[in-house]
Amino acid sequence: IRVAILISGRGSNMQALAETVAAEGLPVEICTVLSNRADAAGLDWARARGLPAEALAHRDFASREAFDAALQARLDALAPDYILLAGFMRVLGADFVRHFDGRIVNIHPSLLPAFPGLHTHQQALAQGVQWHGCTVHFVTPVLDHGPIIAQGAIPVQADDTPDTLAARLLPVEHQVYTQTLRWLAQRRVRLGADGRVAVADIP
Ligand code: GRF
Repeated sequence: IRVAILISGRGSNMQALAETVAAEGLPVEICTVLSNRADAAGLDWARARGLPAEALAHRDFASREAFDAALQARLDALAPDYILLAGFMRVLGADFVRHFDGRIVNIHPSLLPAFPGLHTHQQALAQGVQWHGCTVHFVTPVLDHGPIIAQGAIPVQADDTPDTLAARLLPVEHQVYTQTLRWLAQRRVRLGADGRVAVADIP
């Protein structure tokens, strides 16, 4: 399968995905690592690994719609099977999402539907939850919502801060996203008519 990976910064999830593809010889072609910020550290990492890497700077566009249209045109030219958002900090418009219906996957650092939006670790601590985690889901026009593919959970410790919680969650994000990529590569992820995801047995 062909995947485009979209990042905005460090790109640690992208790095985990790329390393898993290489280490396990997954039948996955990363057709681009694309960032909405030209200064994203993840772009340097991707280039150093010989991956196609490019920036489409949202600040070069007069409007959100213009950026979305340029991104859509670029991705249509690459024709990926899936678009993996990995630390991608732009909200994509409904037209863009509908255009790539069912092919956009995102990782969100909370156990959705709890804590959509930003500062999820802070939200979790403020609510006193005892379990926190991450969610890999298909993207729909509704932000941080959509059919859940996989989740990972970690216990919250009494002395946790948003930073210690985020740090403990990050490796779990990498595990959950790379497991999702394995399933996508094996074409085992099914989005049912009921809007729920099933992972089929190995064919
Ligand atoms: C991660 O917590 C991810 O869940 C969130 O952004 C953070 C940075 O991700 N979307 P990455 O290191 O850039 O992949």
